[in-house]
Amino acid sequence: MIKKWWMESVGYQIYPKSFYDGNNDGHGDLLGIYKKLPYLKSLGVDLIWICPFYVSPMDDNGYDVADFYDVAPSFGTLDDFKKLLNKAKELGIRIILDLVLNHTSDEHPWFMESRKSKDNPYRDYYIWQKGKSKGLPPTNWGSFFGGSAWAYDEATDEYYMKIFSNKMPDLNWKNEKVQDAMIDVAKYWLDLGVDGFRIDAVAHLARAPFVDAEPKDKPVVLDWHKFSNLPDVHIYLKKMYQKVFKPYDALTIGEVGGEANIESAYQYSAFDSGELNMVFNFDHNWCNNVFDIDNLENLKTDVKRLKEVFNKWQVAFKQRGWLPLNWLNHDQPRLISHYGDQMYPLESGKMLATALYLMRGTPFVYQGEEIGMTNYPFQSIEDFNDVSSINRYYDLKRENKYTEAEILFKLSINSRDNPRSAIQWDDTKYAGFSKVKPVVNVNPNYIEINVKNNLENKGSLWYHYQHIFKLRKDPKYKELFVYGTYEQVPTSDELYVYIRENSAYKAYVINSFSRENVTYKLKINFDSVLLNNYENILINDDIITLSPYQSVVLVVKKEQL
Ligand code: NOJ
Repeated sequence: MIKKWWMESVGYQIYPKSFYDGNNDGHGDLLGIYKKLPYLKSLGVDLIWICPFYVSPMDDNGYDVADFYDVAPSFGTLDDFKKLLNKAKELGIRIILDLVLNHTSDEHPWFMESRKSKDNPYRDYYIWQKGKSKGLPPTNWGSFFGGSAWAYDEATDEYYMKIFSNKMPDLNWKNEKVQDAMIDVAKYWLDLGVDGFRIDAVAHLARAPFVDAEPKDKPVVLDWHKFSNLPDVHIYLKKMYQKVFKPYDALTIGEVGGEANIESAYQYSAFDSGELNMVFNFDHNWCNNVFDIDNLENLKTDVKRLKEVFNKWQVAFKQRGWLPLNWLNHDQPRLISHYGDQMYPLESGKMLATALYLMRGTPFVYQGEEIGMTNYPFQSIEDFNDVSSINRYYDLKRENKYTEAEILFKLSINSRDNPRSAIQWDDTKYAGFSKVKPVVNVNPNYIEINVKNNLENKGSLWYHYQHIFKLRKDPKYKELFVYGTYEQVPTSDELYVYIRENSAYKAYVINSFSRENVTYKLKINFDSVLLNNYENILINDDIITLSPYQSVVLVVKKEQL
């Protein structure tokens, strides 16, 4: 059996702008993370993924990098980062960074050179093409952030490719100089002492031939196949693995959205792939109508589908690889607003945590999830900061199909600004995030939902998360919950039951996704209840009656079976 430190880790994702303001200028920063390391440690976290804090004009909050080697002043200095890294090491917390390989900022010196002339030595660092006649871009491909995947540049009368915003030109990975330059970037941070990377948009490093997407007569078509999971991506990653990931024994987790089917996930991250250690996929984020723009009135979770998705990935990866376990990231709605029940936020929140984080894989909690933070109550377009949400607002306005109020409602359900509001540390002004007015939104519900309240109440969501992570680390159960097998038990749709098993124990993880009481027949004499989000369990003649969103974990010593 393959065993690695990162399989036993408990991960936590930090979006630094909204995590904690360490120097009271209203902006979350590296000093803020440094100050909160003991907090993370007490939750049970020993691995942090920090989203980009590099020099950037912040068109996409740092994913538009202008200097891969330095820290943006709004986040602090390189010395702050070193201080953070040292303190984290002292506490036994490892750090991985976001490695942005697909694009740079248009303010990166490479691009500023590249756009100057067709014979500039940096021209070929990016993807340039002549337009079609009549001022049309080279193809009708659409970008993820709305509009065309091409932007026109007057200086040389050509278009550059940009599958995200206009200020994020795509790098040309066919160019070996680009490959080598990004290998150097990775080495630089590993030499400083980080333990690896979450690799941004990794599926998109290669492009199909520049032929219009279907339907060809449509001016803009968002067809991800044109730039997702194409064969050359694997050539680039194999090179990175040989030159940097392998020699440094770095942990690597690729962001592989969209079409991450099992076969392509194996290619990226099977144990013998020679590319990455894991991939984040998004299948489980799309099991209700949260992203169905015309149908957002009544959110309904398709539990059957959710179970199928989890099961599909768990089964596929049971021998050939390892999975990260995350409910959301900085691009997804808040968990309680997405899959939780507003009538039972605490019960449903605890159940969702149990259901996911006891699977086989490495948990990644998204900041604020552990205290039950919710979506932000947006009032106007002024409340948005995310470039894709703002583009979408104007696209919808132009379509003229919805009223202003309807557009705002739609955005408020799934905007990427939802998970980016300030972390609610306490009930003082600005939620204890900063002493001055923050540059990020502060959800008014911070008065009730905050870290301080959670820590003062033993029955809180926070303690439930801590309990789960303690189970994963407990010398008695670590082998079971980290390395044990996973098997789903067939049940009615509203129940999700799975078994974790190793040579010593068998654990039943029983989760109800229902607002009603639900019964479940279980013929075992369990030894103990390891976790329960209610005070009691109602059992009568092998029949367990689960209260709304109840989840329980029952364990049996195998010698007694
Ligand atoms: C994926 C990141 O998660 C998202 O926040 C970002 O906008 C895009 N990649 C582009 O870097």
